[in-house]
Amino acid sequence: MPLWSDIAAEIADFRRRIRDLPVLPDVTPEALRAELEPKYRFDRPVALETLTADVMRLLRTHQVQVTHPRYFGLFNPQVREAGIVADTLAALYNVQLAVWSHSPAGNELERLALRALATRIGYDPDGMLAQFTSGGAEANLCSALSALAHRFPTWATEGVAALGTRPAIYVSSESHHSFVKLAKMTGLGTSSVREAPITDDLTLDPVALERLIEADRAAGWSPLLIVGTAGTTAAGIIDPLPELAAVARRTGAWFHADAAWGGGALMSDTLRPHLDGIALADSVTWDAHKWLSVPMGGGMFFCRHPEAVRHAFATVHTYMPKETPGGTVDSFQVTPQWSRRMTGLKVFMSLAELGVEGYGGLVDHQAAMGRLLREKLAAAGWTLVSDTPLPVVCFTHPDIAAGTLAIDDLVTRVYAHRQAWISPVVLAGRVRALRACITSYETGQKDLDALIVELERARRGDAG
Ligand SMILES: Cc1ncc(COP(=O)(O)O)c(C=O)c1O
Repeated sequence: MPLWSDIAAEIADFRRRIRDLPVLPDVTPEALRAELEPKYRFDRPVALETLTADVMRLLRTHQVQVTHPRYFGLFNPQVREAGIVADTLAALYNVQLAVWSHSPAGNELERLALRALATRIGYDPDGMLAQFTSGGAEANLCSALSALAHRFPTWATEGVAALGTRPAIYVSSESHHSFVKLAKMTGLGTSSVREAPITDDLTLDPVALERLIEADRAAGWSPLLIVGTAGTTAAGIIDPLPELAAVARRTGAWFHADAAWGGGALMSDTLRPHLDGIALADSVTWDAHKWLSVPMGGGMFFCRHPEAVRHAFATVHTYMPKETPGGTVDSFQVTPQWSRRMTGLKVFMSLAELGVEGYGGLVDHQAAMGRLLREKLAAAGWTLVSDTPLPVVCFTHPDIAAGTLAIDDLVTRVYAHRQAWISPVVLAGRVRALRACITSYETGQKDLDALIVELERARRGDAG
């Protein structure tokens, strides 16, 4: 079977040689289209072996290699082999998880993984409902819909227009923008997203939040959702979860912890205490495809109010089962999706292969590399601008402060050399900086040294 042996060879070779490949592509849309359009007119069949070889070449060459140990990027991880195997098997058997009865095995394997991860959150696995989602944005959407269903019994039938009050979602400038998007999707409107002040360390200020909620209440708003982020997108900052939970309790809001990336820290016994209070959240977003090192499409939504989730999503149809075997759940009744791919198999297989302790080791290594990067940057004359125990490092340089070096120019020069990927970032809506995240469990000291070399080269104005 040359097709499958070729694929197996590419998997092994790509993973073995990734460190020697450029991190960034060097291609224009014009060049790529000029190559692809004449070749793929879909007017004649192409042998699958030929097609596969071409797709492998294209993806190996023309993309940012997010699995590269010098991709210091946006929460896109290097992936475990177990995840590649799992996604292949999910495709082979075309597992359909809309209803339990179509794939008892698939549903039960996912359930085991979700229960184990719920335990890491501190949730009672028997007192919660958890489901895989397409990603963190969908899980965050589930939080708002579940909160609406919980708070307003008539919302599901009458809609937001009939609520007689304006539900508000409380975030900070550092929260993920999926909350703005879901405000549109839910019909709450983007003005319902209320930005509470942050403190100097970029965390949501609970005292100022409570003040804002009370002022809003007087103006006709009802606090629906308070979002605490455990690992902000820009700087990996952890909001004060216990204090936010207390504000939610006092004001009657639903407390949602967005741990899309930072949830990974729950696998480490050393880092887990930094997320203390997460178990107080009414719901939690946690993306396995961020810090749990599985391929894309492994979001998770955990909720302590199963009835609210059911109320938010359940429907009755003649062609779908009305009852499931005792203790089982039909996923189409508790998520926005209907047909559902088995996205959780890669989480189950990675978790079973590594064990919780093995996962914790990978997470601890990445956190250690984050700390080391901070030390190396400081020693090389760069200035750290934020602090977190998680491996996101935001930094700048005295030349940038002095106005003799522009952040965008520096990033462009780093990209031009194609040996590392970092990004510009804006903190607190106004502080511009550079951002590097340890996204690969294979990133080592030599990759950190290589990044410093790239930064220094770019700072001196050398494009390549
Ligand atoms: C904190 C946070 N929440 C939610 C999301 C959205 O996750 P996804 O891209 O999986 O939908 C992200 C993405 O980076 C994130 O950083």
